Amino acid sequence: MTSVIHCDSLWQGADIVTMRDGKYHTIHQGAIAVRNGEIVWIGEQASMPAISASNIVTFDGGIITPGLIDCHTHLVFGGDRSGEFEQRLNGVSYAEIAAQGGGIISTVNATRDTSEAQLLEQALFRLQPLLAEGVTCVEIKSGYGLTPQSELKMLRVARQLAELLAIEVKTTCLAAHALPPEYRGRSDDYIQLVCDTIIPQAAEAGLADAVDAFCEHLAFSPEQVERVFVAAKAAGLPVKLHAEQLSPLAGSSLAARYQALSADHLEYATEADAIAMSRAGTVAVLLPGAYYLLRETQCPPVEFFRKHGVPMAIASDANPGTSPALSLRLMINMACTLFHLTPEEALAGVTLHAAQALGLRESHGSLETGKKADFVHWPLSRPAELAYWLGGQLPCTIIFRGEVRQ
Ligand code: NIG
Ligand code: FE
Repeated sequence: MTSVIHCDSLWQGADIVTMRDGKYHTIHQGAIAVRNGEIVWIGEQASMPAISASNIVTFDGGIITPGLIDCHTHLVFGGDRSGEFEQRLNGVSYAEIAAQGGGIISTVNATRDTSEAQLLEQALFRLQPLLAEGVTCVEIKSGYGLTPQSELKMLRVARQLAELLAIEVKTTCLAAHALPPEYRGRSDDYIQLVCDTIIPQAAEAGLADAVDAFCEHLAFSPEQVERVFVAAKAAGLPVKLHAEQLSPLAGSSLAARYQALSADHLEYATEADAIAMSRAGTVAVLLPGAYYLLRETQCPPVEFFRKHGVPMAIASDANPGTSPALSLRLMINMACTLFHLTPEEALAGVTLHAAQALGLRESHGSLETGKKADFVHWPLSRPAELAYWLGGQLPCTIIFRGEVRQ
């Protein structure tokens, strides 16, 4: 007697770009069987075992990819910084604006003054376009509150987004993002507040899945970042780091020493940083939106990452200052045109490697048995089309945990 696999839904009629091992590994004319939001069988339709499903969807061609993952965003914030955008177009630099009390601090002031309900409403509005283009998992950082109350407020808003929308949200406490004005000249004291109060409170409340910091001359030194990492480890949280965005401080090597999930930006990373990251399994998260908006000219050392086998992820860095980006697909294109990634590397960057940057490599980011049933059907002929079209909205069917997202 042949045994029948019972499942909730079966998806067929399209080529499946699995992204197993970070490669296309396409299954032509494939099928995916789903039970309880997870993939229970995937393979060629022609070699499918006996499967019973209450819901069978047969696509008329096209491709299926894993749901896209945006592994670095600052989507929750108050206000906007279009005025600074104009200043920068007139030649004032990001560092100069920060030194004048603008930059991150202007968003901190606006965020502190915005209620939790308003922050939620504004973040929903920014998250919608990402959702519509196939994002099924997003990371959201705090970092514009810089007090215990307002950092926790941001993290609560991030958690609420996951309750309101069919999307997974991973939260990151980025209290060590900038020095709040009330701590001027006392940055070590602020780091102590971050380590002794903000991180433990965020962890205790279950509001943070990871801890991040900004290692830069206009933010915090490697020594201060290390204190933050020690506090994160004590709270049982993995770390990430904004590193080597504007200058080489070996922040990414420091992050690797603490088994960071990722080091992000990395325009000024060196080969030694790449080697350290490779040994630690730290993902290089590349942020072409910030590179583009700041008119950077130094590209992240993609050749070193390839040479040393460092997985590369791509993210929007959606934030009001350096990357008001509301499209991950545009970032895929920019990673190819500006950073010379191949479309296959760029797709791995928003699927499997993005999952790894969030500590989710075993359960997300590729289409394999046992993984989450988060995937997108696109009426496209080749996966490279995802890197090719600029803007617009590609029609797609988004499946989150085995169900079509309306
Ligand atoms: O990822 N680099 C630091 N943090 C953000 C920018 C934040 C801001 O300017 O508001 C980034 O680019
Ligand atoms: Fe960032």
